[in-house]
Amino acid sequence: MQRTLVLLKPDTVQRRLMGEIISRFENKGLNIIGLKMLQVTPDLAKQHYAEHVEKPFYPSLEAFITAAPIVALAIEGLDVIKVVRDMLGATSGLAAAAGTIRGDYSSSRQMNLVHASDGPEAAKRELELYFDDSEICHYQPVL
Ligand code: CMP
Repeated sequence: MQRTLVLLKPDTVQRRLMGEIISRFENKGLNIIGLKMLQVTPDLAKQHYAEHVEKPFYPSLEAFITAAPIVALAIEGLDVIKVVRDMLGATSGLAAAAGTIRGDYSSSRQMNLVHASDGPEAAKRELELYFDDSEICHYQPVL
């Protein structure tokens, strides 16, 4: 079993797509083991996007990710990091394939609705940024 962090970004919340996107993960059979709504601060944005802080698009990315609440999800499943990344599609909504979340709902490189960890190290680091151990639920799916 693997775990990954997914963020439903401010554009998802503002466009009222939270339920639609969460349903996709549920319908896929993945296990949501943590879920919270929060406002990202500039400090948290810099920690989360540490690898992008020096990039030209970072000021705009920080303004976007702190502009409205987000929803953080901890998701568990077999090979879940790759499964979720495949469900999101390419970074840019314009390039993302139809049938993926970004491909179906986004036409933007920045406002691409969702973030997901891109590997095991990132997943561990990012889950720790958004969730305390006590906020992760342990249960067996009933079906
Ligand atoms: P995400 O998967 O959260 O990882 C980094 C984010 O930066 C990305 O989604 C986009 O929201 C944003 N991003 C990546 N590249 C660009 C870019 N060239 N211009 C603007 N925003 C970008």
